[in-house]
Amino acid sequence: MDQSDPTQPVEPTEPVPTVAGSSRPSRKTVLRAALAVGASLPVAFAGVPALARTTREEGTAPELTPECDDGDDPTPPQTEGPYFRPNSPRRTSLLDGNPPGTRLTVTGYVFGLACRPIANALLDFWQADANGAYDNRGYRFRGHQFTDAQGAFTLTTIVPGLYPGRTRHLHVKVQAPNRPVLTTQLYFPGEPRNNTDSIFDARLLMTMRSNGPGREGSYDFVLNVPQQPGPTDPPTTPPPSGTDWKSGTTYRAGDRVTYGGRSYTCLQAHTSGPGWEPPNVPALWRAV
Ligand SMILES: [Fe+2]
Repeated sequence: MDQSDPTQPVEPTEPVPTVAGSSRPSRKTVLRAALAVGASLPVAFAGVPALARTTREEGTAPELTPECDDGDDPTPPQTEGPYFRPNSPRRTSLLDGNPPGTRLTVTGYVFGLACRPIANALLDFWQADANGAYDNRGYRFRGHQFTDAQGAFTLTTIVPGLYPGRTRHLHVKVQAPNRPVLTTQLYFPGEPRNNTDSIFDARLLMTMRSNGPGREGSYDFVLNVPQQPGPTDPPTTPPPSGTDWKSGTTYRAGDRVTYGGRSYTCLQAHTSGPGWEPPNVPALWRAV
């Protein structure tokens, strides 16, 4: 774990992160750059040629890392803590009304092990309010969303307040379709308590910058999801008998379906899709 200078201020002009012991940009940095310039992108998990190869062939992107070998992947897990609540609302903005606090936008991508964006990945965020308090009765500053076709997400919220014993952080669960849940936390550079919080991990520092009165953070998750290095068709498995669950359907919390002859209750409102079959996603469906 790279613990070097976890509190080093990086605003407003943060240097480009580099691989430890090397001057080349990290894989994630390059991928972000390639995505930002509109490189040909996968439209679905395992859908089109690998991003790195595509941009290299076009000759318009900076030199790309040939392999996913930064040594800091996949994104490390962290404790869930005591304040997670299931069944958060689906939303990209956690701003209910006009809450006090510094506005914060967090953007990023979800990648798999072959550096390819993962579309339709679930991200479930929860955090403290500006006073460092969690809403353990309702869903203030809680919400889930899915990455878009480019594997990107955007969260609109506030900078979480501090509470005793912890440095400033966001909680998140990230899950690719049909894969295990990654529970982790995101941190802010330059926080004095980063040095004293035993849970803090510098690999989970966001890149931060100011934007007027607000702040912008970015972080790219890398999930422990095997990916084909080249183009493949997404696996298509016909649903088993005894199934009324359907892909492309909007389900709400409490809805009942059957899949493979077993009944499930929907825990979180979502639009179903391949990989989100009830047996595969305990965050969305509970067997009854
Ligand atoms: Fe927390």
